[in-house]
Amino acid sequence: MYDWGLKNRLSRVVKSDGKTVMLAVDHGYFLGPTTGLEDAEKTIKPLLPYADALMPTRGIVRTSVSPISETPIVLRVSGGNSILDEDLSNEGLTVSVEDAVRLNASAVALSIYVGSPNQKETLLNLAKLIDEGHRYSMPVLAVTAVGKNMVRDARYLALSCRIAAELGAHFVKTYYCEGFEKLVKTCPVPLVMAGGKKLPEYEALELTYNAISRGAAGVDMGRNIFQSEAPVAMIQAVRAIVHDNATPKKAYEIYKGFKARLKSKKSKVKGVTASKEQLSRH
Ligand code: 5RP
Repeated sequence: MYDWGLKNRLSRVVKSDGKTVMLAVDHGYFLGPTTGLEDAEKTIKPLLPYADALMPTRGIVRTSVSPISETPIVLRVSGGNSILDEDLSNEGLTVSVEDAVRLNASAVALSIYVGSPNQKETLLNLAKLIDEGHRYSMPVLAVTAVGKNMVRDARYLALSCRIAAELGAHFVKTYYCEGFEKLVKTCPVPLVMAGGKKLPEYEALELTYNAISRGAAGVDMGRNIFQSEAPVAMIQAVRAIVHDNATPKKAYEIYKGFKARLKSKKSKVKGVTASKEQLSRH
């Protein structure tokens, strides 16, 4: 039975309908300046009001997120690897739960690499984080990471998700795959779907719909939102699927509608600026 504090924190992230739209912006912890996140503050600010939770590193929280933001933080607390590593699985804990509490985090997130050379270490890191998390009523999100050449099929992902839950993770992030419902059925805690590489918007919405209709508790999506041509429109389309059961077709219409409105708003602002400049020249 979870403590009141832990339940309260978790309920900030997973909303009362049992669903969540998390915005992942933690890529820099091993990828450095990822496309779309070069100026993290600029990217994150307009998206924050539409995210149920933000998943950054502590460096990005302290430098690029306003402290008056009401969006809950799911703090990335593992790292130590980089894209230059042949084997990405060599991760350790990078943040104490005490510092996560100082940042008023609503949960902490760590990657596990089942089947990798560092399987044992990453799983023991998870167990340690859960023990420490319970001391502070801090929920833990286990991310079932995959190495560069690792498969993402239902057999492997179900194994990783179940191991994470068995070790005590409060929720799990994993990839979509054929037979996703098997992962959901065999994992006793909520599953959120990672977005993965940037896809055309309609395909990303289809992916979201497939995961939600097969039992996912939401998404923790990064590139398919912040690398979209219209990120604010895209996150609202994703929300429509996650919280309002919209079909991909309906969600794509929502995307296109918001995109058009945002574009005309921008050109009006440009027009006003241009005419002010013309006036000042005369
Ligand atoms: C990496 C992560 C990232 O947060 C996540 O995968 C990035 O989101 P996306 O794939 O949607 O860009 O947990 O292990």
